[in-house]
Amino acid sequence: MNSNWSRESWRDKEVVQMPSYLDGSALKKVEAELKGYPPLVFAGEARALKSSLSEAAKGKAFLLQGGDCAESFAEFHPDNIRDTFRVILQMAVVLTFGATLPIVKVGRMAGQFAKPRSAPTETIDGLELPSYRGDMVNGMEFTKEAREPDPGRLVKVYNQSASTLNLLRAFADGGYADLQQIHNWTLSFVADSPQAEKYKDIVDRIQESLEFMKACGIDSNVVPNMRETNFYTSHEALLLNYEEALTRVDSTTGKSYGCSAHFLWVGERTRQIDNGHIEYLSGICNPIGFKAGPSITTDDFLDLLDRLNPENEPGRITVITRMGSEKLSDHLPKLISAVKKEGKEVLWSCDPMHANTEKSSNGYKTRHFDKILKEVKTFFDVHSAEGSHAGGVHFEMTGQNVTECVGGAAQISEDNLGDRYHTHCDPRLNANQALELAFLVAEMLKKQRTAT
Ligand code: PEP
Ligand code: CO
Repeated sequence: MNSNWSRESWRDKEVVQMPSYLDGSALKKVEAELKGYPPLVFAGEARALKSSLSEAAKGKAFLLQGGDCAESFAEFHPDNIRDTFRVILQMAVVLTFGATLPIVKVGRMAGQFAKPRSAPTETIDGLELPSYRGDMVNGMEFTKEAREPDPGRLVKVYNQSASTLNLLRAFADGGYADLQQIHNWTLSFVADSPQAEKYKDIVDRIQESLEFMKACGIDSNVVPNMRETNFYTSHEALLLNYEEALTRVDSTTGKSYGCSAHFLWVGERTRQIDNGHIEYLSGICNPIGFKAGPSITTDDFLDLLDRLNPENEPGRITVITRMGSEKLSDHLPKLISAVKKEGKEVLWSCDPMHANTEKSSNGYKTRHFDKILKEVKTFFDVHSAEGSHAGGVHFEMTGQNVTECVGGAAQISEDNLGDRYHTHCDPRLNANQALELAFLVAEMLKKQRTAT
């Protein structure tokens, strides 16, 4: 680890995509307040996740990471948290069943509030204002007041994240995730979808197995693991003022952990090797990730691995590729070869969302289900050809019945996009589309499993 690192050493480096606050003293006050707050996650949990991710890197588990592009204050509701949680559980069941592998579940939840933007300002009818950068920074409304970065939002994010995490922990440990409740996880609008039959079939088979085990004296009273699940949180570590304020020294190891989430990643636009974002991530001991888009060179890529994981610790780094459905097969092989040649420990995950975003003919930012599927399929194919493991997927999705991505079995068309387009940033898969994708990924995973 870099001996000059401290939780504030990022401040000596250049940073991009961070807001400048008009009122520096208000920001300082908020930072001091957050520094005194309890951590949201604990170092031991982050270590447990790291260990599970190291299994996924070896092909002995699989990472399922998903949630909103941007959480928002307006959509903060227990039903929304529950619905996203249950789609992730359902997807995990489909994947576990298909591939007979443990699924490591990580939500883009309880902290995913800040967004990098392609342009610093937005102009509407001749009025130029700062871009919306997520509810952690400013408001979406197109007014001068709303778009001004407000440090008070950091405290609101902390509070919303704490309540979200509290509910997630209750769902994961309090009986809701008990396999015996599996039939209760189906969302009402999924019940009449084409996936519902297939899902019901799995549920029936799992229930049959549970009955059998019960008859043999094994149930969740005897094996408490069956009653609970591990569910972790993650977000992009973009607003370093917030991440710094939630960094804590773990009393058992004396090491620093980012305690705003179990897993933090750095985005495609902020992963410059000498900049503040990489500096911050280099010093915390959580499992971390970085996005790798089509512009990444093999040298940049290896430099990032060296910088972020100098001890080559398994489970520490997840590389989240997001190259686009057409470009992935050109770019991924050389990165996999470099990892093999240099003997680097890497978990490979596929984000099929961020390089497949386009504008519909009626003006919506959207993504096509077929392209998303194609990028995931290419990811599996390239890993199989290179003798490597496709270790995980990273989706923008919600438990809500939104119409933001086109296609899928429910055949959402461009004309449907306006029906329920609610995202605060990028278009998300709805619960049906997410589940459908899980079935398709399960088939790929099964093939990968049987080939090795
Ligand atoms: C994101 O994950 O929401 C995001 C902005 O991704 P990327 O950094 O890959 O563009
Ligand atoms: Co996004």
